[in-house]
Amino acid sequence: MSTARRLAALLLLAAVLTPAAPLDAASRPPVTGTGGAVASDEKLATDAGLEILRAGGNAADAAVATALALVVVEPEAGNLGGGGLAVVKFGDEVAYLDFRETAPAAARRDTYLDKGGEPVPGASLVGPLAAGVPGSPAGLHALHQRYGKLSWRAVVEPARRLAADGFRVSRRLHAGLEEEIDVLRRFEETAKRWLPGGKPPAPGTLLKIPELAATLEDYARRGPRAITAGKRAKAIEETAKRHGGILTAADLGAYEPVWRTPVRFEAFGWQVASADLPSSGGILVGSAAVQLERLAWRDTPRFGAQRAHLIAEAWRRAFADRYLLGDPTTSAAGARELLAASWLEKRAASVDPAKASRSNDVEPWQFTPIAAAAGGSGDTTHLSTVDAEGNLVALTTTLNGLFGCALYVPEAGFFLNNEMDDFATAPGRPNLYGLIQGEANEVRAGKRMLSSMSPTVAWRDGEAVALGGRGGSKIPTATLQVLLAFWLDGDGLQAAVDRPRLHHQWLPDKLFAEPDALSPETRAEVEARGHAVEMAASYAQVHAVRWKSSGEAEAAADPRGGGGAAGVVRPLF
Ligand code: GLY
Repeated sequence: MSTARRLAALLLLAAVLTPAAPLDAASRPPVTGTGGAVASDEKLATDAGLEILRAGGNAADAAVATALALVVVEPEAGNLGGGGLAVVKFGDEVAYLDFRETAPAAARRDTYLDKGGEPVPGASLVGPLAAGVPGSPAGLHALHQRYGKLSWRAVVEPARRLAADGFRVSRRLHAGLEEEIDVLRRFEETAKRWLPGGKPPAPGTLLKIPELAATLEDYARRGPRAITAGKRAKAIEETAKRHGGILTAADLGAYEPVWRTPVRFEAFGWQVASADLPSSGGILVGSAAVQLERLAWRDTPRFGAQRAHLIAEAWRRAFADRYLLGDPTTSAAGARELLAASWLEKRAASVDPAKASRSNDVEPWQFTPIAAAAGGSGDTTHLSTVDAEGNLVALTTTLNGLFGCALYVPEAGFFLNNEMDDFATAPGRPNLYGLIQGEANEVRAGKRMLSSMSPTVAWRDGEAVALGGRGGSKIPTATLQVLLAFWLDGDGLQAAVDRPRLHHQWLPDKLFAEPDALSPETRAEVEARGHAVEMAASYAQVHAVRWKSSGEAEAAADPRGGGGAAGVVRPLF
């Protein structure tokens, strides 16, 4: 299915599902409890996390249980065949787990190019050549090993039960299968499981996935090696090979998640920890937040052209710097340079308070921009958890596109990702999200492709929030807008999540506005300043939790897309 068709269909879907909230709409009341909270894309997954909290588990146990339940009920994004990132705050300790996929050992700079050096259409998107080495099996286990309190078996159990006993197919899963049907039916293995009788199971159908239940049973007993070694690793290699892939069992066995230091910055009186390389997410959120503080964002009227102008300019500069980024070992710069006070001072000082810059003129990266497409949807998924002690986890995980590369491995019970498209498979050309990326993010064996995922934790005076989202390049811009609304506008967490959003990513040089984000008068004023405004339904979906100094926990799920699910643990009496 072409990206254009997918985009058009998702626009239509989002238009139907996105509530037409007026600019200052009253949001739903917050979901509040004293025993912890979970927010994710799916009710059954949130319920799995809550079950674990009720059983005495902590935020890490609940995060792993929620993530594994998403593998079952949201197979288009929840995964064991992809990778992810988590930012954790346990007491005063802040940590960042990178379980991003890596390029297989056989991947080369020109793997996705033809003999003339031109990109081979679809090579980094459909089929197993597009798959990076999955990081989720070892990553989720590593998160539990370091912070979990309950047994490993206990946190895997809710997901195993869902796969074995079955779950009702959601409208979103049905719509996703329908949307991707042309690509999914290219692979016999995929069609057999997901298109019985040639079409997706109807919403409400009870679906059991015994092969995934068996994988989860073995994963509960033996940990990651149930997937990364032995018969399942062999099956992954053979299935990939049969369809032209280069992923091997040796790649799977060699994969290691990495605990890294998160990006740290302070903005508007809040301490923030977010994802560092191989994600650009934390650097983008930090760069824009600090620029906006310097540009006196706090003093600008809540609604109006000045805010839209300033945030577009801050993002334009932050995303221009993204061009430098890549795997931590090849990146041309990192948080140290791009979040340096002197650099952000310079960036903020270059903003004309009255007039839009042109992206081509934003230094230092002078090159002829190529007309980049508006970003695609991104089919990542995010969850946030907080426990009764106020420990927090923000975890984002992805197959990249919807159902990843579309190849389902029956012996394992999951899809393989198409994360290789997050590399600059042809530097200077737009990827699935319309992002133009540089040589620092070239395909290299064993390297991790640049991400935009932005799992983030922010805290101040005994209060804390954990959040992040799905939505490709729109993740960092959505995450920042939720933080700004929550920090500065007196919005509750749910209201901050609900607010209509804007998005700018340097290239294409456009300010994307969700329906209702700009009134007609404000839009005219923003355009008069030189911004090319394009109204587009935003696909970024942010799920957040909050810890209050009163000892209460709150959860907020994004009403966009499938609506998400927020839940809390509270005593009955
Ligand atoms: N695959 C989307 C991202 O990592 O940004």
